[in-house]
Formats: sequence, C-alpha cells, structure tokens
Amino acid sequence: MTDRPVLTVEHLGLSIGGARIIDDVSLSVAEGEMLGVIGPNGAGKTTLFNLISGLMVPTEGRVELEGVDVTSHSIPRRARAGLGRTFQTSSLFGGLTALENVRLAAQSKLGGALSVVRFPRMRDQATEIARQRLAEVGLADYADTDAGVLSHGDKRKLEIAMLLAQEPRVILLDEPMAGVSSGDVAGLVEVIRGVHQSGRTVLMVEHHMDVVLGLVDRVAVMHHGSVLACDTPDKVMADATVQSAYLGESL
Ligand SMILES: Nc1ncnc2c1ncn2[C@@H]1O[C@H](COP(=O)(O)OP(=O)(O)OP(=O)(O)O)[C@@H](O)[C@H]1O
Ligand SMILES: [Mg+2]
Repeated sequence: MTDRPVLTVEHLGLSIGGARIIDDVSLSVAEGEMLGVIGPNGAGKTTLFNLISGLMVPTEGRVELEGVDVTSHSIPRRARAGLGRTFQTSSLFGGLTALENVRLAAQSKLGGALSVVRFPRMRDQATEIARQRLAEVGLADYADTDAGVLSHGDKRKLEIAMLLAQEPRVILLDEPMAGVSSGDVAGLVEVIRGVHQSGRTVLMVEHHMDVVLGLVDRVAVMHHGSVLACDTPDKVMADATVQSAYLGESL
C-alpha cells in the first residue's frame, strides 16, 4: 500500500426530491488499500458506489480517479479509466464456459470483441489472460464448465475474474457475499483477500462484519447518508459516535 490516492471523493452530495440521500461524503482510497464500507440498510452505501461508478450523478461534490475529475464522465469512460465494478450475476453468459466469459472481458480490454476476429493473435492473448484470472480466483478446474451451472459462490468468483481481466485501477464490490451459501463464504473471502494482497485497490460494501473487519485496512461507517467515521477497524469499533449510532441497530 502507498500513500498515493487512487480514488478521492470530495464533499459528495445527492438530494432526490428533497431527501438527502448522500450528505457531504469525503473519502480517499490509497493505491493498494482495501476500504470497507459498512452501515445499516438505507445508509447510502450502494448509492455512494453508484455515484463513484457513474450510475448516478451527484448534486454536489466531485469524484477523482488518479487525480482526474471524472464526476461528469459516463460509466464506460470511467470503466476505461480503470473503475471496475463487479458484474451482476445476470451478466454472466450461461451457455458459455467460464473461460469464454472471462475471455470476453479480457477482449473488451484488449480492444473490443471485433478486433479478435481481425487479429487472431489477440484471441490467444485474451485466452492466456483469462486462464490466469481463472486460476487467480481458484476456478482453473472449471475453465470448460458452463458458467450457468456454477454455484452462487463460484459465479461470484467468476465475476471477480471477469473484472480482473479488465485490469481495473479500483475495484468496487457491493455485498459480494450476498446470496452465497454459508459453506461458500470462506472460499470467496479468501479470493477477495488474494485480490487485495496482490496489491489491488478495493472498496467493499459488506454486511458480514466479521468478514469486513478481518479483511480491510480501513472501514468507513455510513449512517443517514454521511460517513460517521473512517479509520482502522479497531479504532472505528472503539469510536463512541459509531457505538451510539448503532445502539439498537444492527450493522
Ligand atoms: N433513485 C432513488 N430515488 C429515491 N430514493 C433513493 C434512490 N436510490 C436510493 N434511495 C434511497 O436512498 C437511501 C440509501 O439507499 P442505498 O441503497 O444507498 O442504501 P444501502 O446503504 O446500500 O442499503 P442496503 O444495506 O439495504 O443495501 C435509501 O433510503 C433509499 O431508499
Ligand atoms: Mg446497498
């Protein structure tokens, strides 16, 4: 981890119909850092990710990626600049193998699916990248398996492999364990730990507190659209403001 900020959010705000959904959020994520985002239902965690990835436009503030103001940039433009979000399960192509799914993601990074038709060598290169990414998430043995028949946990791993194939500078994971059976959680946690330990920059929203606190370098606690605290897990859990905000509420 370095001190160099990769993603910076400054005084970000979002009001919808008079309701304050995101209220003056400022955060900075350093290169190689993993930041957890926690908070009760409706705190604004997903909305914050939507503002960062470009799915929603803030009413105030700015989002900077590698020092460039991307607040007004489209989702594809941000993606090209290195902002990666996990694919929804529905974006996996059932009927295509795990390898083919990751290869498509690698091809889009290498210059679009059509260029593969024109430059066969690019297909070999994309296949090689896809094999490496599948191995990285522990799915090497499932390369030729139809993506549609994988378990929920393995589908999540495949989505992460697809994301990695695009070589993002920042990875946003919104509740990666949601819908994954309890037996598959530990394996998925280890994959995410590996992604972080390989030096990548990760932001992760997750309700499983034990998972978050055991994985991240720092954790931001959101409540009613604001960030109450952002520090190491130990310091945040000892913070009186955080404790009082959660009295009677489960994280
Ligand atoms: N497009 C929208 N229009 C109006 N209100 C919205 C919109 N999107 C989100 N909200 C509201 O903003 C608040 C924050 O929602 P958000 O989904 O970001 O919370 P969250 O922290 O991700 O919650 P959860 O833990 O349940 O996923 C909620 O009160 C939600 O109802
Ligand atoms: Mg959410």
